[in-house]
Amino acid sequence: MGKPKIYITRTIPEHLLEPFKDKLDFTMWTSESKPVSKEVLYKEAKKADGLLCLLTEKIDQAFCQHASHLKIIANMAVGYDNIDVEAAKNNNIIVTNTPDVLTETTADLTFALLMATARRLIEATNYIYNDEWGEWSPFMLAGSDIHHKTIGIVGMGRIGEAVAKRAKGFNMNILYHNRSRNIEAENKLHASYVSFEELLKESDFVVSLVPLSEATSDMFDMEAFQTMKPSAIFINASRGGVVDEAALFEALDKKVIRAAGLDVFKQEPISSSHPLTKLTNVVLLPHIGSASVATRENMLKLCLENIALVFQGKRPKTPIV
Ligand code: DGY
Repeated sequence: MGKPKIYITRTIPEHLLEPFKDKLDFTMWTSESKPVSKEVLYKEAKKADGLLCLLTEKIDQAFCQHASHLKIIANMAVGYDNIDVEAAKNNNIIVTNTPDVLTETTADLTFALLMATARRLIEATNYIYNDEWGEWSPFMLAGSDIHHKTIGIVGMGRIGEAVAKRAKGFNMNILYHNRSRNIEAENKLHASYVSFEELLKESDFVVSLVPLSEATSDMFDMEAFQTMKPSAIFINASRGGVVDEAALFEALDKKVIRAAGLDVFKQEPISSSHPLTKLTNVVLLPHIGSASVATRENMLKLCLENIALVFQGKRPKTPIV
């Protein structure tokens, strides 16, 4: 019997594949930057025993039925809202994700986005590039303080805790809301569990790190923005689907809240024609939460390790189902 065939939906560095080549036979999509077409994905999946995919691939019921012979789908992301996990389970396909390896890197970016939004860093850079810097003045580009303010973290999982750790270093008061209490975060970081409404009311910074599900879809709607302080800053580093973007646009435009920093959007990618780009009180990033070279390599390595383990008849390190 030949080696199990693995289809990878992007071109990834050869040196990551090297340690696995004696056990697995790899085929990759020909681009690093452009997603594989649905047609090619379906064709290649049919010939493969395992799949390494990204959040750009829609792994729905139709795909799981089409590729029900696959042993494993290794998703290169901690979030897996691109995958119909039930459909995979019903077709006996193991699904894995990449928790832990990206926690600190994503928390770094989330906090950087918070700081950039509060202190208007992008506006300030553009100020120079657009030759707007005349004389120095007391309130030129004055933003909001971060230290000693209240941060409200919605979704106190691993990344939420890592963001709270950073907030503690800035002497922030930490509130959180989660499906269940996180006693460790309460004890170690002095984070206080509050209702969603209380968090919105009390926080200077509302930070979304909640996974996208039916329960969280559009949870940040006009009512949520109206509950926040007019000086509140909203940060989203989880999934665009948790935000009603039209409501956010209106809330920012009408100064219902002060500003927003977004790393994720409902429909990605966005371009310069997206309505949010017309506002000055936003910082927009192209979904780069976990984008350090080391972390992206570690995410890919974890996917490959999970695949190798499954074909050795072992339990993968990070299974979802
Ligand atoms: C994830 O892992 O879910 C991120 O959004 C992509 O790195």
